[in-house]
Order: sequence, then structure tokens, then C-alpha cells
Amino acid sequence: NNRTTLIAGNWKMNNDREAAKALAAELVEALPEVPAGVEVLVCPPTIDLCCVAHKLEGSAIALGAQNCYWEASGAYTGETSVPMLKSAGCTYCIIGHSERRDYFHESDEDQNKKAKALVAGGIVPVFCCGEPLEVREAGTYVEHVVAQVKAGLEGLELASADQLVVAYEPIWAIGTGMTATADDAQEVCHAVREALVELFGAEMADGIRVLYGGSAKPGNIAELVAKPDVDGALVGGASLKAADFSEMVVKA
Ligand code: G3H
Repeated sequence: NNRTTLIAGNWKMNNDREAAKALAAELVEALPEVPAGVEVLVCPPTIDLCCVAHKLEGSAIALGAQNCYWEASGAYTGETSVPMLKSAGCTYCIIGHSERRDYFHESDEDQNKKAKALVAGGIVPVFCCGEPLEVREAGTYVEHVVAQVKAGLEGLELASADQLVVAYEPIWAIGTGMTATADDAQEVCHAVREALVELFGAEMADGIRVLYGGSAKPGNIAELVAKPDVDGALVGGASLKAADFSEMVVKA
């Protein structure tokens, strides 16, 4: 395939201002250029988007947010709109992370509104999906993930395949050190791509990046991205260390 590998760091709710700036600066230094065929993205906390954007200026590292709201402006205390993210320098935005779904009770319908607002506003959604352990153990994980993808992305209008990224993150593998095997990742990423074929047609689906997330690290990234339907990783813990994250970029 001719999809560009995407190594995306999700910093989650970590670091203060100084630490965020320092991490961004270390990454710029460690990755003066990005290997051909690879794209690098970091997603700091909302409050640090501007200072990280400043550090990333002129570098090959893209900036993304971890969440957004679908209305453009108005009385939505505490929220951040797509135009605001755009003006802060974001080109990507994570939506539907399992932590948002579980702790903040976000629904598939919420993700659908966010995805549509992002694409309309010129920001690429990194749409997350994934099953909890009990669904994995029950054996219905493919159906679970495919249902999330269809509900979250139905009716989304794409002009090109680079307007959407999907990240498959089995919840039991997030922050646990329990990485899914590369074959497990491939099985579900392939099912995600088949769902994308149903939603957007074969040609579009062939160009959409599908990432794996869940304890991805320097030691397993090469094996993961070697799989035909795994186009990169959404990295949590290992993205907080410049040495680990840049090693993953080089090995991808
Ligand atoms: O968004 C990133 C994922 O939740 C993975 O986190 O690499 O710490 O397991 P992790």
C-alpha cells in the first residue's frame, strides 16, 4: 500500500508548561527530519497547544489536540472548538478515546458530531475505537469495534483519504504493558478497513490510515507496522519520553 505511516503521541493529562515545552524541544532535536514514508504527530494537553506549536515551528512534527467540541463558538464553558484548534496550529484531533468514552460518558453520537465538525473545519480526526477486556474474552470484539466505527463515522463526507485516521486501541492494552500481538492488531485493523469500505468505498478506504494503540513501544513498533493493515501507532506512555518516541519513529 502507499499509506504514510503515522506515529502519533498522545500525551494525555501529563506535564506542566515547562515540561511540555522541554519535551517538544527534545523531540525536535531528536527528529531533525522524519524518515521518508513516516509522519509524526504529538497531541499535548489543550492548555499547552500554543507553547508546543511554537516549539514545533519549522519542524517536521505535526500538532494535534486530544479532544474538541462540535459547535464553532458560544456558551459551552470549558470546551474548545475546531476553529480554535485550527488557529492554534492543530492539523489533527483525537476523538473517541476510550478514556473520554468511559470517564466522561461520551457516546458514539458525540464522536459522529465531532468527526463531522473536524472534517468540515479542515482538521483530521484520529477516531479511536476498541473493546474492553470482557468483550475480548467473549470473542465479540470485531463486531464491537466495527459497530463503533460505523456509528461514529456514518454520514461523514470525505473528499480525500487523508482527511481521516482511525486508531484501534483495545482497552485492556492501554497503559497496562499488555500489547495486543501484531496478529491481533492486524485482525481488528483489517476489520476496521472493511467497515471503512462499507462507509466510504474501496478506493477511499484503501487510503485511510488505521493505527494500533495500546502499550506500543520501541520494542514492538516494527512488528506492528509490518502488518498490512496497521499504518502506525497511537502512543501513550512511550510518547512522554523523547528518546523512546523518536526511536519508534525511526523503527516504524
Ligand atoms: O492514546 C494512546 C493509548 O491510549 C495508548 O496508551 O501507549 O500508554 O498504552 P499507552
